[in-house]
Amino acid sequence: RFPVIIDCDPGVDDTAALLLASRLEELDIRAITTVAGNVGVDKTTANAVKVRHAMGKDIPIYMGADRPMFREPVTAEKIHGVDGFGGVSYPAEVTNTKIEEEKAWDAIYRIAKECNGELVIIAVGPMTNLGIALSKYSELPKLIKRIIIMGGAAIGGNVTPSAEFNIYVDPESADMLFCCGVPVYMCGLDVTLKAYLTAEEIEEIGSLGSFQAKIFRDVMQGGLKHYHELGYKGVALHDPAAVLYAVDDSIFETHHVGIRVETKGQITLGKTVTDLYSDKQFEHNAYIVTNVDRDAFRDKINTLMAKF
Ligand code: BDR
Ligand code: CA
Repeated sequence: RFPVIIDCDPGVDDTAALLLASRLEELDIRAITTVAGNVGVDKTTANAVKVRHAMGKDIPIYMGADRPMFREPVTAEKIHGVDGFGGVSYPAEVTNTKIEEEKAWDAIYRIAKECNGELVIIAVGPMTNLGIALSKYSELPKLIKRIIIMGGAAIGGNVTPSAEFNIYVDPESADMLFCCGVPVYMCGLDVTLKAYLTAEEIEEIGSLGSFQAKIFRDVMQGGLKHYHELGYKGVALHDPAAVLYAVDDSIFETHHVGIRVETKGQITLGKTVTDLYSDKQFEHNAYIVTNVDRDAFRDKINTLMAKF
């Protein structure tokens, strides 16, 4: 069991990731930190409050940045809905709507200090909160064990031909992360597009019976049309892939590489330039996750969702 902070922008696949994280006994979830990304930070925070209720755990929520460090916000309502929750109505009355007053970046630093070097950060939204934390607290990298992100890709993108959403929104913060000295594990599109569930598999989870399983089904189903239009067999479970990777990398393929983020390019802005095949010109600062055993991934998700 190890301490983690989940930094996120719920977000439909963030919702799935948080639900799954709550059933993983290996994770001691010290905080959920929210950031502007899929929708504005007020909405991602409101969604985190709903999901915390569904998780059935009294985890503190810290609100973070309402915009990228140096840029205008970019959002993704087309996929996540105007509310960021896929338009899915939340079935239960949420009684605990309290969030903490401390800002996300201050909480990240404080909790890192409390964890004596054991803290793992799972970041599945734009990396602004971490960018601010790193800028504000120079000793922070020494206090973090590893960072697992959903973001980026060695090849291709989903916002532009070059860039994945979480990196594209705040490339400067993402680059700070890759350069901070903490090992970064990049679960990007290379792996997350292979970590998909088909319509039938999502329905199977929905039929497990709990209201959490129904939330999981409803939010993921919202993405089906989008992925089918793009020619994929199912919905990519981007953020859940990073959470599952954090506890067990045995079903994934990982390579030790150098990664930097393009922060100036006109058509390559936000590209995670990955030294995977070339002559190792970049320092090996990161790990790229390139593949997953999809059947094992799906089985794990089923097992976890059956725990509700
Ligand atoms: C990432 O972008 C967001 O829209 C998703 O929640 C995920 O974190 C995928 O590119
Ligand atoms: Ca996300």
